[in-house]
Amino acid sequence: MQTVNFKIDGRNCAAEKGKNLIEAAKQNGIFIPTLCHFKNIDPLGTCRICSIKLNGRSIAGCTIQVEEGMDIEVNSVEMLDARKAILEMMFVEGNHFCPSCEKSGDCAMQNLGYEMGIRYTRFPHLFVDRLVDARPERIVVNQNRCIRCKRCVEEVKTNDGYAVFNSINRGNETLIGIDYNQEAKLSDREALRAMDICPTGSILVRGKSFVKPFGHRKYDYGQIGKTIPFDKTKINHTNGNKKIVATTSLAGCFGCHMSMLDVDLGILDLFEVIEFNKSPITDIKKFSKHCDIGLIEGGCCNTDNIEILRAFRENCDILVSVGECAIWGGLPANRNTIPLEECLKEAYLNSMTSEDNETCIPNHEDIPKILNKVYPNHEVVKIDYHIPGCPPNANHIWSVVKNILFNEEFSIAYPEFKYD
Ligand code: SF4
Ligand code: SF4
Ligand code: FES
Repeated sequence: MQTVNFKIDGRNCAAEKGKNLIEAAKQNGIFIPTLCHFKNIDPLGTCRICSIKLNGRSIAGCTIQVEEGMDIEVNSVEMLDARKAILEMMFVEGNHFCPSCEKSGDCAMQNLGYEMGIRYTRFPHLFVDRLVDARPERIVVNQNRCIRCKRCVEEVKTNDGYAVFNSINRGNETLIGIDYNQEAKLSDREALRAMDICPTGSILVRGKSFVKPFGHRKYDYGQIGKTIPFDKTKINHTNGNKKIVATTSLAGCFGCHMSMLDVDLGILDLFEVIEFNKSPITDIKKFSKHCDIGLIEGGCCNTDNIEILRAFRENCDILVSVGECAIWGGLPANRNTIPLEECLKEAYLNSMTSEDNETCIPNHEDIPKILNKVYPNHEVVKIDYHIPGCPPNANHIWSVVKNILFNEEFSIAYPEFKYD
């Protein structure tokens, strides 16, 4: 075995000559993120999430075998941002509604989102409408979540060696096709392996949805404690003047507010240093004071939401978007893939609870007008901070609020960044 010496981010590293860079870096304690890379197969080079710079040139790290004298850049500001942008493109290019996805907590792509600190994307979401193929016997393939990494194409084979998945079309139009005859031959174990191989929630096995509870999934490192550390003695800069907080729920499910209330009895301590103004917690409907901070749950789906959001911007020094719906539309944005007229017809004329022969879609000047799609808040007003999660837990929300208002030490444990 010949050992070669090379540099990663200026650090001296050594590995077996010809070893794959991803593995060689890992051996030297350096993590390069991957999605399409698989230890024992030829590099696919499809996802580009492993992009690094080799001797000053940008290239997919998983396609490189280490050689003597290589000079590799992995964690420079430029490469960190380039990889983050690639992942953001994957998120906007498909419909990644994590809170309703079976793979949440087990998903490599979601986990990378957390690792890279993605809270919202710099690119607009495309809200594509691709096939959810439920024709196979054992599996369901949701093309809206597929990143076309081709792991399944390379790795999922029947006992007699036939491929189950294949690539259809090219470039932007690429889709993953299924050979239904071959798929029918997969054993239960092989079908589950296909689901595991997929780094997203694109391949799911029928009857195996949500069998593993949240908290026990691959990336759920530990249970989240319910304690809300709140040391009043540290908060001595109020000088008797309470900080004023406003909250609102726009197009959301109220889950983030329920999470805020999870502070339980701690809320009595909070009331000594914080005063709520406009908020469903106090039931104050209109601002009666200028506020230090406004917490906003939910995105904007109608004209009323826009008005309230603008009032928050005007009346609060700092605005914080809380939860997934506020950040990019979240679950309410499921409707963005369907024309508005069809949504309204489905809701008012054809739903299970519609009256027979119903012909009327409510329309009155007092009813807020529904927007063509659900918008994240930062597309409407300037938002100062985002808190990701669905819902973010109480610890997370209060850590952010305390840091902003009282300059208290800020620390969020990894398991607190979860979509459950
Ligand atoms: S595949 Fe599912 S869990 Fe993973 S990022 Fe997409 S929606 Fe979220
Ligand atoms: S179905 Fe999954 S494994 Fe196959 S190409 Fe799409 S994301 Fe990759
Ligand atoms: S991991 Fe290298 S291109 Fe996907």
